[in-house]
Amino acid sequence: MQLIDGKAVSAAVKERIRAEIERDKLDIGLAVIIVGNNQASRVYVNNKKKACEVCGIKSYEYALPEETTQQELLELIDTLNKADNVNGILCQLPLPAHLDEKQVIEAISPLKDVDAFNAVNVGKIMIGDYAFLPCTPAGVMELIHSTGTDVCGKECVVIGRSNIVGKPMAMLLLHENATVTVCHSRTKDLAEVCRRADILVSAVGRADFVTADMVKDGAVVIDVGMNRNAEGKLCGDVKFDEVAPKCSYITPVPGGVGPMTIAMLMQNTLKAKRLQDE
Ligand code: GUN
Repeated sequence: MQLIDGKAVSAAVKERIRAEIERDKLDIGLAVIIVGNNQASRVYVNNKKKACEVCGIKSYEYALPEETTQQELLELIDTLNKADNVNGILCQLPLPAHLDEKQVIEAISPLKDVDAFNAVNVGKIMIGDYAFLPCTPAGVMELIHSTGTDVCGKECVVIGRSNIVGKPMAMLLLHENATVTVCHSRTKDLAEVCRRADILVSAVGRADFVTADMVKDGAVVIDVGMNRNAEGKLCGDVKFDEVAPKCSYITPVPGGVGPMTIAMLMQNTLKAKRLQDE
């Protein structure tokens, strides 16, 4: 069993981006919007700002109070859509319950939608005509590639069907000619389906969800989960201690997929600048 080092792979991606930005003397800005006091969101936003610093991208934080109205948020996005110094706009999710997430996502200009959450960019992903890569799934693909595994023809099982991870993950695997199965809470005999997987990607959001009986010997296991266990410790979806010995490769949590998502966000922000300069 070998651990996949997400920190090392993401550092290499960020270094490549930094060198390109420096070489071409690019002035790039990312606006990061955070609404309310979600602790996890605060950590993610801080990590995204740190990555910007490493890459030489300017970050502009808009920390809005919990009671921000939909109209105020839409007005900010409108201003940022028009701002020449802002190449990418990221609105950290989840938003407080009184705000309409879908409308906010659609308000971001598709040319600045570095999360690729907007329907225009999701549509482009479906047809394989990428403007922006979906950050977490693209990070997972980089981690799989880092192991030297060829995805073509492999049985891939994705657990979870969210718009942010599960669905775009299936598309990226499909575009590399994998045979892809997407599982979810209504899947019958989940363990049996998962055991078929040469590559198993879990994006469920429940600690200890993936157990050893769900994993084929020699599988590559990618854990997208970001959960807190009973002791409050950060952990993934995979019961690591019992699953790891069965795998050829496995990602740890933390230090697996998380850092890759952020590296892909940096890559999309650079892409946004290039698209806007065309
Ligand atoms: N919340 C959880 N993951 C993400 C992400 O990738 N982008 C944004 N904006 N919010 C998130």
